[in-house]
Amino acid sequence: MNDINRGLLDFIAASPTAFHAADNIEKELIAAGFERLCEGHDWHITLPGKYYVVRNGSSVIALDLPEKVDGFLLTAAHADSPSFRLREKPELESAGAYTRLSVEKYGGMLCSTWMDRPLGVAGRVVVRENGRAVTKLVWLDRDLLLIPSVAIHMDRSANDGKAFNANEDMLPLFAVSGENMRLDALLAKELGCAEEDILSRELNLCLRERGCVWGPEGEFVSAPQLDDLQCVYACLKAFLQPKTLHKAAVFCAMDNEEVGSKTRQGADSSFLEDVLIRVSDALGKTRAQYRTMLAQSFMVSADNAHAVHPNHPEYADRVDRPVLNGGIVIKYNANQRYITDAVSAAVFSEVCRKAGVPVQRYTNRPDIHGGVTMGNISLSHVSIRSLDVGLAQLAMHSAYETAGARDTEYLIRAAAAFFGSAYCVTPDGIEI
Ligand code: CO
Repeated sequence: MNDINRGLLDFIAASPTAFHAADNIEKELIAAGFERLCEGHDWHITLPGKYYVVRNGSSVIALDLPEKVDGFLLTAAHADSPSFRLREKPELESAGAYTRLSVEKYGGMLCSTWMDRPLGVAGRVVVRENGRAVTKLVWLDRDLLLIPSVAIHMDRSANDGKAFNANEDMLPLFAVSGENMRLDALLAKELGCAEEDILSRELNLCLRERGCVWGPEGEFVSAPQLDDLQCVYACLKAFLQPKTLHKAAVFCAMDNEEVGSKTRQGADSSFLEDVLIRVSDALGKTRAQYRTMLAQSFMVSADNAHAVHPNHPEYADRVDRPVLNGGIVIKYNANQRYITDAVSAAVFSEVCRKAGVPVQRYTNRPDIHGGVTMGNISLSHVSIRSLDVGLAQLAMHSAYETAGARDTEYLIRAAAAFFGSAYCVTPDGIEI
């Protein structure tokens, strides 16, 4: 395994939720000399400068500002993944024999892939501490729960296609009845606080299985949450590489893409706009100068894409069929569910060509609806020329997804070249 995929798998293993991913990103930013700006305080910015902002502990925007700021080159990826969210008081007796935990679906996962494998619990807990409500990251990083499937002998139609009911089929087994086991007791022990001081919780089930690189020549990488931590990781590595900047480099890792982005910290919030306006204001720019900067800016929305499937190639488009290790996937959609247009595709393809990174195309099969991405959502708040890209993967929204082992490095190289590019819009065309 090369260092890049080892780093990716370490990052994923340490990031079971968006809260943990944001925390790990923040640690890397601090180690690289970035300074935190708090939304609840005044911002003082000097040039050149390295800053970052965190909202809700789960979305991060970092800015690497050169001597002169006249535009932004941004990447955006999402840090959340489909999972099961535990209820506030989740314990539920069953069959007079068991305690299960009550869950709600977060996003749209392939349910069967979550069954019959040990699961941990991770997220954040708000604790009463010296008269304050203090948020703590928590991770019960051990084999604690399991969602058992029904034996084939009891359900002979189990292999004929099955509808999974989140209220019936997906509740994890926690303990044997009569032991009076409570999740809060485990949380209190982990956090070193009294059980009654736990005020509230936002906890997800998480797969503890570590990712791996596999295949005769290590062609493939499989892990939980490759959608979209592979893009988050690659963009972060590119962002932190030393380089000469012509424009401000901006790295965005957003929460809540899997549930539609309409949260205070999601792509469909004011977060990105608030950060860019406040940076512009802190630099003493007028509102007209801010608009000029936006017109000189470019955003790459990076979210994984569907590779053509080995057993089901019929789900892919006839022409645009991304393959694993085929390089950056540029996503197109006539109805603009992806924001790529001819100009943004040309600009980014040129960046990739100069960086020696191959590109391929994705469109949904015309009669199959695909997903939406953060790109067109954030653009409804901040209008910047943009395109949607991703890395090809299989089994999207499985608990354990598969991608190409070479593609992580392709995105790092492409994003680093993008951040360092001399992008400039002129009346005669765009300089890259
Ligand atoms: Co995604």
